[in-house]
Amino acid sequence: MKSFLHVHDIGDLRQALDEAKRVKATPFAWQELGKNKTVILIFFNSSLRTRLSSQKAALNLGMNAIVLNVNGDSWKLETEMGVVMDGDKPEHLREAIPVIGSYCDLIGVRSFAGLQDRDFDYNETILKQFIDYSGKPVISLESGTVHPCQAFADLLTIEEHKTVSRPKVVMTWAPHPRALPQAVPNSFAEWMNAADVDFVITHPEGYELDPGFVGKARVEYDQMKAFEGADFVYAKNWSSYVRYGEILSRDRNWTVGKRQMDVTNNAFFMHCLPVRRNMIVTDEVIDSPRSLVIPEAANRVVSAQVVMKRMLEDIQ
Ligand code: CP
Repeated sequence: MKSFLHVHDIGDLRQALDEAKRVKATPFAWQELGKNKTVILIFFNSSLRTRLSSQKAALNLGMNAIVLNVNGDSWKLETEMGVVMDGDKPEHLREAIPVIGSYCDLIGVRSFAGLQDRDFDYNETILKQFIDYSGKPVISLESGTVHPCQAFADLLTIEEHKTVSRPKVVMTWAPHPRALPQAVPNSFAEWMNAADVDFVITHPEGYELDPGFVGKARVEYDQMKAFEGADFVYAKNWSSYVRYGEILSRDRNWTVGKRQMDVTNNAFFMHCLPVRRNMIVTDEVIDSPRSLVIPEAANRVVSAQVVMKRMLEDIQ
């Protein structure tokens, strides 16, 4: 695997899930694979889960993990090509990336969508430079359009908890005070469309996602109707894709609470975290026994480990 952005990069989903279960059961079985290998994890943005789970996955594989916080620990990096560098960014990605590549075997990059320029974000302009110029396999740790390690962990969590062969999974928009990227819902939609689930997306009008990610998913604007009979509810806020980066609603009728969960099939509640309590979801729902947010976050180690393991196997 040369890069990990999309569900097709992981190949057969059944095989990937079986491998994830093996990795989860015996996380230290591949310690030799990562011996004397190094992953560099580059963060342009804040993180708790992605940073720690990626490091833990690397340690489980016997690898060294180095974390670089761009804008904090290093020089500020210019990301746009062709600019006169007379601002506050003394180094360009064009030099920084091959330098980073020369120090490691794998690279992980977190580079959130800036939400200013849809083409810049949706062309994965930053991540693609790492793919083109590092000479090393590159993992998206949430980039302009996708968060594949999260979606893989989400799918594994559903696989572990489903009680019917083809569960109904509902992804719902929920309110948030700030404009958030579409990477998590894009990837969740992409992975659910590839999985054997009945997938429904619900959001207020104006929050339509990129049709390329929505694919064959059913879109239902009535949240209560969408929730009927759901086995899993996946809540997430995102800003508008159409009116790019704008907040069109903060309607707290969309906050996931008992009212909505009562019409589901005793659904499990999921969220990628961090979550704004009583904006995205009520305390009652997230603290209930049907909440999967902690095992879901724990599975981030597993998804990252499967991806790194496959990349290491390819470069042996
Ligand atoms: N879910 C997720 O990616 O969390 P962090 O932003 O804390 O890494």
